[in-house]
Amino acid sequence: MLVRAALAALGAATSVAAVTPLEVHGSQFVNPKTGDAFQVVGVAYQIGGSAGYDPKDGKDPLSDGDVCRRDAALMQMMGINTIRVYNLSPNINHDECASIFNAAGMYMLIDVNSPLVGESINSLEPWTSYYEAYVNRTFAIVENFKAYPNLLGFFSGNEVIDAVKTGAQAPPYIRAITRDLKNYIKNHADREIPVGYSAADVRDVLEDSWNYFQCSIEDEAGDMSRADMFALNSYSWCGNSNFHDSTYDQLIELFKTSSVPVFFSEFGCNTPSPRIFTEIAAIYGSNMTEVFSGGVVYEYAQEENNYGLAQVNDDGSVDLLSDFRTLQNQYSKLNFDSVQNVKATGKSITPPTCTASLIKEDGFNNNFTLPVPPPGVQKLIDNGIGNKLNGKIIDISDWTVSQTVNDVNGNKLPKLAVKPLADGEINIPSSTETSSGSNSDTSDNASPRLAPLNSVSAALFTIPAIVATLFAIGVTLV
Ligand SMILES: *[C@@H]1O[C@H](CO)[C@@H](O)[C@H](O)[C@H]1NC(C)=O
Ligand SMILES: *[C@@H]1O[C@H](CO)[C@@H](O)[C@H](O)[C@H]1NC(C)=O
Ligand SMILES: *[C@@H]1O[C@H](CO)[C@@H](O)[C@H](O)[C@H]1NC(C)=O
Repeated sequence: MLVRAALAALGAATSVAAVTPLEVHGSQFVNPKTGDAFQVVGVAYQIGGSAGYDPKDGKDPLSDGDVCRRDAALMQMMGINTIRVYNLSPNINHDECASIFNAAGMYMLIDVNSPLVGESINSLEPWTSYYEAYVNRTFAIVENFKAYPNLLGFFSGNEVIDAVKTGAQAPPYIRAITRDLKNYIKNHADREIPVGYSAADVRDVLEDSWNYFQCSIEDEAGDMSRADMFALNSYSWCGNSNFHDSTYDQLIELFKTSSVPVFFSEFGCNTPSPRIFTEIAAIYGSNMTEVFSGGVVYEYAQEENNYGLAQVNDDGSVDLLSDFRTLQNQYSKLNFDSVQNVKATGKSITPPTCTASLIKEDGFNNNFTLPVPPPGVQKLIDNGIGNKLNGKIIDISDWTVSQTVNDVNGNKLPKLAVKPLADGEINIPSSTETSSGSNSDTSDNASPRLAPLNSVSAALFTIPAIVATLFAIGVTLV
């Protein structure tokens, strides 16, 4: 009886396979179990845009498990390994969605801010927005997400700076909130969780923004205000472009000395439309991967601005758009072994020292004396916030997608389901080219397909794990 109870308890604790939490080593994300560098193959996930976040209604992009199951199945089919989610409530339970994406082999990049008043730093008058309740909200997001193994990192700001004018005041405040978040994580999370900034790709201020956030402040213990990663929302590759015309060559030149990982936190110019996504071969080609850590396609769900891969309808059904299949085809042409299974360089790069002369643009802030935490915040950092809602990975009993999903040609996709991956597995694009949808005559091509590695069931791994654990704690099976 005792043994059975122990087995059951352990089963509950170990039957959930998980992706390996990633770490930042120098300018790369690294999987500490395999030693491989990680390339983000991401998609921005915010159904309904900013309206998809309504704290009063208890609604945000990760609040509905059925919706996440449907979308995770479709993203798995495409080869996505990361979602970026912008506007989240710290008081909503995200366990089901986070657990589904975890099981599907996908990481999460989470913005701690939202566009609502009091929930982000004001670009022009940042001092008016930096106060206890605001900082508390960002800590509440940390509490909500910190326990998920597939949490890749937090963005402490998104496009706060988009011109020299907004670069005049905001930078010290973004560094200050980054510092507060890192101090909070150090005291209240059981692993280091990367915190970084997502920049607008405005070339006047891109280099200064990167340097302002990656540089090291002398005499600051632990460099706590320094960003752990730097990302840019970049739309410079449009249509059938190339390395030169897209200015990707300039981005490589700029970031090749980065002391932190750099990646696209958004990409996917939609002029012309439909898109052809030829940048995929460039982003995951060796020119780029030596400097960049991949990117996040903007965006999963269609909105008025026409960047969607899928049309999400009010009744929960989804119509795939041609961009979905085009992007999937571009991923499928990559040799993912040479993209994802590459040993990390192990190089650590000394960041530049923060000095006024590091900042080039006249008018961009070059003062590295940061605002001190607002009244009340140090106490939160020391003791933790009140009324926190801590997320955790849970067992998912049903992987089947209940909603109707129609392919580009209108055919219904059969048997759509999330395929839970084995412990430590990351979702990868299928290496087989898929039908473009519009001229496919069978729907077979459209069913989710995974590379052979991924098809090993998570269950196979849990029994030995339970037995091993039992032996480890000295329980005898007889
Ligand atoms: C901090 O956030 C929690 C969770 O949202 C909330 O319950 C609490 O009232 C907040 N505290 C402050 C000081 O804003
Ligand atoms: C790599 O970069 C070089 C120099 O910018 C460029 O000439 C070349 O076309 C690039 N290779 C690919 C595959 O894009
Ligand atoms: C730098 O910022 C600090 C804190 O806001 C301020 O006290 C100081 O006067 C500023 N220094 C300069 C040279 O503007």
